[in-house]
Amino acid sequence: MHITIIGTGYVGLVTGACFSEFGVFVTCVDKDKNKIESLKNGTIPFYEPGLEDIVKRNFKQGRLKFSTDIGEAVEESLVIFIAVGTPPRGDGSADLSYVDNVAEEIANHIKSYKVIVTKSTVPVGTGERIRKIISEHLQQTQAINTADNLFDVVSNPEFLREGAAIEDFMRPNRVVIGAESQQAIAIMKDLYRPLYLIETPFVITNIKTAELIKYASNSFLATKISFINEMANLCEKVGADVNVVAKGMGLDRRIGPKFLHAGPGFGGSCFPKDTKALLRIASEHNVELGIVDAAIRANERQITVVSEKIKTMLNDIKGKTIAILGLSFKPNTDDIREAPAISIIKNLLNAGANIRAYDPVAMENTKIVFPDITYCKDAYDACSSADAVVIITEWNQFRNLDLERIMKLLKQPYFFDLRNIYEPQKMKALGFNYYSIGR
Ligand code: UDX
Repeated sequence: MHITIIGTGYVGLVTGACFSEFGVFVTCVDKDKNKIESLKNGTIPFYEPGLEDIVKRNFKQGRLKFSTDIGEAVEESLVIFIAVGTPPRGDGSADLSYVDNVAEEIANHIKSYKVIVTKSTVPVGTGERIRKIISEHLQQTQAINTADNLFDVVSNPEFLREGAAIEDFMRPNRVVIGAESQQAIAIMKDLYRPLYLIETPFVITNIKTAELIKYASNSFLATKISFINEMANLCEKVGADVNVVAKGMGLDRRIGPKFLHAGPGFGGSCFPKDTKALLRIASEHNVELGIVDAAIRANERQITVVSEKIKTMLNDIKGKTIAILGLSFKPNTDDIREAPAISIIKNLLNAGANIRAYDPVAMENTKIVFPDITYCKDAYDACSSADAVVIITEWNQFRNLDLERIMKLLKQPYFFDLRNIYEPQKMKALGFNYYSIGR
């Protein structure tokens, strides 16, 4: 089978590369010429463990192509994935202009039956919108009256975690397919055959339900995080330990242990955007989603809570130097979109602090936002003569720091562990003024 993926951003490139690994012939299309040229040379525009190998191998073996020519790619493909961005607009709703443009472009090149799949996270009703755009276009330009038989629209949301995307694609918890035609369902199942063979559950449903599953899943996970962060704030006041509260809760199989790690709040390109977009979708239908709304607000408060904690503990932060360990919104990615580190640094800078930052891969991206803070060569360099160290992202290399060395490097022994990596008692015994979340 030959397929096309339109949009070589995070989702598009991972999806295209992984399908080619399944033996499918894939053309990844993007209008950005430079990006396509560098992909041909094996340069991946972002950091994702394992992706480069898969791209290079399949490119070399001819199963993965890169192109700027949408027309040619569409004509030779049976399935076309739309994986372009749906950035948030000022009011929180998703901007669908890229999706609309791509639908028009696809319509220009439909000569035989195609399955058109949305992979991007799109508002409920987008599948229908794409169907209309293509249908009307075909009727106008090709005078095809039976336009609806020439293509089907499918919703196939992705559930990829950055940093673990290859594993998530190859061994997903589930595959969701929203379609209204048996032919399209059969083609999608065929495409995902390797996953069928490892008994991955498939949820086959209508398009709108599939579109909503994605938003509901992300918003639920975001709610879990906000819930435990609020519990953490309560734990601090009553003298309880949130890690143990989470463990005790998570052992109940109805709750489950995942996504109950208290921290500085959720970030990234999905949770903040998708929760807001879901609220927007609901309000357009006059439905109140109080829980999702509260999860968003609790997340915004969490940044203030931790920033204030740092400021208060250090007394007057003006002129003090703070070592920041970890800038990406989570480990194993260089993505700093909506990263807690960015907001915390902003708050500390506004209060007059100096920042010495280190991250294994996200410093280049952060330099664009904060060109004037000091970037360091490692965690120890960052701590050198600092008044406090703050761990914001739980990269593995921060899990086993030489604490005695850090103690010697710091001017004052303030240690803010926003990911609860270290043991409070041990840290206190070492002489640190240690703060973690909810313990
Ligand atoms: C998420 C979803 O997990 C994925 O299924 C979806 O398709 C895209 O959005 P991702 O944004 O890559 O993936 O990151 P994820 O691992 O889910 O973490 C999101 C944020 O929540 C991070 O900032 C992380 O630090 C935070 N988080 C996660 C917590 O604070 N506590 C937790 O227990 C889990």
